[in-house]
Amino acid sequence: MSGTLTRPVVLGLETSCDETSAAVLSGDHEILGHVILSQDVHLVYGGVVPELAARAHLQKIDSVVTEALEQAGLELNDVDVFGVTAGPGLIGALLVGVCWMKAVAYGLDRPWVGVHHMEAHLFAPSLEQPDAQPPFIGLLVSGGHTLLLHVTEWGQYRLLGQTRDDAAGEAFDKVAKLLGLAYPGGPSIERLAATGDAKRHRLPRPMLRRNQRPPDSDYYDFSFSGLKTAVVELVRRLDAEGRLNDERAHVAAAFQRAAVDVLVSKTLRAVEETDCPRVVLGGGVSANLALREEMSRRLRDTPGNRVFFASPRLSLDNGAMVARAARFRYDRGEVAAWDGTAAASMPFPGLHTAPLEAPGARTRFP
Ligand code: KG4
Ligand code: ZN
Repeated sequence: MSGTLTRPVVLGLETSCDETSAAVLSGDHEILGHVILSQDVHLVYGGVVPELAARAHLQKIDSVVTEALEQAGLELNDVDVFGVTAGPGLIGALLVGVCWMKAVAYGLDRPWVGVHHMEAHLFAPSLEQPDAQPPFIGLLVSGGHTLLLHVTEWGQYRLLGQTRDDAAGEAFDKVAKLLGLAYPGGPSIERLAATGDAKRHRLPRPMLRRNQRPPDSDYYDFSFSGLKTAVVELVRRLDAEGRLNDERAHVAAAFQRAAVDVLVSKTLRAVEETDCPRVVLGGGVSANLALREEMSRRLRDTPGNRVFFASPRLSLDNGAMVARAARFRYDRGEVAAWDGTAAASMPFPGLHTAPLEAPGARTRFP
């Protein structure tokens, strides 16, 4: 590494699911090195096999970190802070990353920071668009979570809504399986949907009704299992009629449109209710072009609107977002203890459920 290095240098490590990824972050958002290795051992199973994921992380972690450091022109000894996803996720996979990070940090006498995976997703857009800062409405959509947040400042996350059953990404994965498409389902559905006509089939918009009002508990919540069941029934009927092959792309398009419509509609409700027209999309499903375009389109006429999302590479699981979230927690003095560990489920730090009407809860924009 030539020239001056902006400190602190953070090494971010992500092993919560089926990506082994490491990134070197310098200062606020300069990514000096970044390697994302997607495991392909799961392909034949049509989903992630936890034990195989843990083993694959263990096999690849050294080389992934080494390559990220090489890209940065740095060595382990140049790292100031070691950040790693500590949860939520697959416990075996998480433990590989956390144990590795703790051992290295301990050996070098440097701090380690345990990162919440979904908070990391929320930081991802800010790596490429530095003005993706609060206040904003955050929509986090991944394989395991669907969260609608009102973010007044980093670390203060007011939960507006969440899924009551399947996560958005899970719904894409299940519908893809049903249509005989490859895992992960999201990109497969998106590709197929691009060739289909969403209007050919009418699918429900679960938990989205005109007569809902903000105090209703389902005003912001999501439900995707009913939509999946509707697709199951549609596919069964088309199959019985011998039309499934011809209709597959149209079904994918109709499903994607229904899922996107619910996600965008609820986000717009939050924008309206909080007077905050800035939206940050995070998590694997935010790589979906139809979601990005529809969100931007329906916010177009709202004064002061901004829609932030990361490039596809940083929308999916990656080490750079982990490094960025670790940097935030490190700045707040939140260094982990040496007996700290990973957890399959982990409370979102700073998440609270203050009612909309609470004094000071509304953010006026600008
Ligand atoms: O954030 P992520 O990479 O991992 C988790 O934290 O779960 O999200 C993975 C999820 C999977 O369910 C995958 O099908 C979905 O994100 N996904 C997509 C797209 N790319 C990934 N869903 C819709 N459209 C996409 N283009
Ligand atoms: Zn993720």
